[in-house]
Amino acid sequence: MAEFISVRGFHDIFGEELDKFNAVRRAVRRILELHNFEEVILPVVEYAEVFQRSIGEATDIVQKEMFVFPDKKGRLLALRPEGTAGVVRAFIQHRLFALKPYTKLFYEGPMFRYERPQAGRYRQFHQIGAEVFGISDPLADAEVINISYKILKELNIDCSVEINSIGCRVCRPNYRKALVEYLNRIAGALCQDCIDRKDRNPLRVLDCKVPTCKEAVKEAPKTLNFLCQDCEKHHKELLDYLESLGIPYVENPNLVRGLDYYTKTVFEIVSQELGITVIAGGRYDYLVEEMGGVPTPAVGFAVGVERLSMLLKELPKKPPLYIVIPIGNTIGYALKVCELLRERGKRVELSYKRSSVKKQLELANKLKADYAVIVGEDEMKEESISIKNLHTGEQKKYSLKGLLSEV
Ligand code: HAM
Repeated sequence: MAEFISVRGFHDIFGEELDKFNAVRRAVRRILELHNFEEVILPVVEYAEVFQRSIGEATDIVQKEMFVFPDKKGRLLALRPEGTAGVVRAFIQHRLFALKPYTKLFYEGPMFRYERPQAGRYRQFHQIGAEVFGISDPLADAEVINISYKILKELNIDCSVEINSIGCRVCRPNYRKALVEYLNRIAGALCQDCIDRKDRNPLRVLDCKVPTCKEAVKEAPKTLNFLCQDCEKHHKELLDYLESLGIPYVENPNLVRGLDYYTKTVFEIVSQELGITVIAGGRYDYLVEEMGGVPTPAVGFAVGVERLSMLLKELPKKPPLYIVIPIGNTIGYALKVCELLRERGKRVELSYKRSSVKKQLELANKLKADYAVIVGEDEMKEESISIKNLHTGEQKKYSLKGLLSEV
């Protein structure tokens, strides 16, 4: 038993899990770059107010899940529970809105939430998120949903796109009133958490996971029936764009999201296999203004990297591995061979163990090599190498010159 183990909910990522993790990262980054998003690297720590103000005081994230601690001067800091608040803070602080007519940014890195750990839920997890600032047209909503959908296609993961509109400053108050009235009528059927939530944050009751609450809110008023003209038009246009892009979606009237900053479009991409959300996002047209910036509409999403990795069926293919095995007094030559192969883009390892060919071939198998490159004294004299295919057993000699053109 090791003397020290990692903190509960904080995990090491290595081996095949890391191969999958990096395959997800590469795919997501590639698609974001094709859509001309630019990367920002943001701090892991912000003043706690950044999250309190943006995510919302009454949310589970702020109330229960933030890692908060004072610095030496007593200011409250927090480990970031998500990326949007930090991007908005940076967007305002560096006046990024002044540089371009609109701004498309992405970020990646660890996020921290004090949740109860379980499969696919950690206290330190990784997100890649993207945000479009300065566009109120639903074309931007369609672009972020399109990117999310393409990520799943590219990774060959079966999921469904769920979408809703939760309205704006104009129409949300009417909806909220109708919802609270409804919740008061059915309060007897709600769990204690929902009874507490019903006045503070009534929309959250709609996505409570407790079966009795789920049943009780089936007949609750739907946001879509309360949208103002502008929100309704926005939603309809978005659905038209999704049709044009050939993106299948389901409308989920109870989708409300756990962060307070959303307006109009909200969406989640849900794995049917595991019953978990892997990508989520939406529009947040008031957040920049609420955090002290010039009013700027915005929309974005974040990918849970661990969650997508869990759903990857196949291990990403690595390039074949060559193990160079020096026999006799040939180390200098073997080092040169390694470099030549690497210059040709091959993945090469020099065998560090000095023993017989047989022992070293066993070692090559243990290291899961695909080819053994045997360099004996004869090979050195002839400026050649022998390459053994460790899958078929076939062995062939190449002159170094010939090799450079052939391998
Ligand atoms: P979120 O729904 O809180 O949204 O998180 C986005 C994704 O992060 C989730 O769908 C999930 O894949 C992953 N995730 C969240 N919590 C955990 C956890 N404890 N363990 C593992 N994975 C987790 C946001 O964070 C928003 N900032 C998204 C956004 C960007 N909206 C607009 N722009």
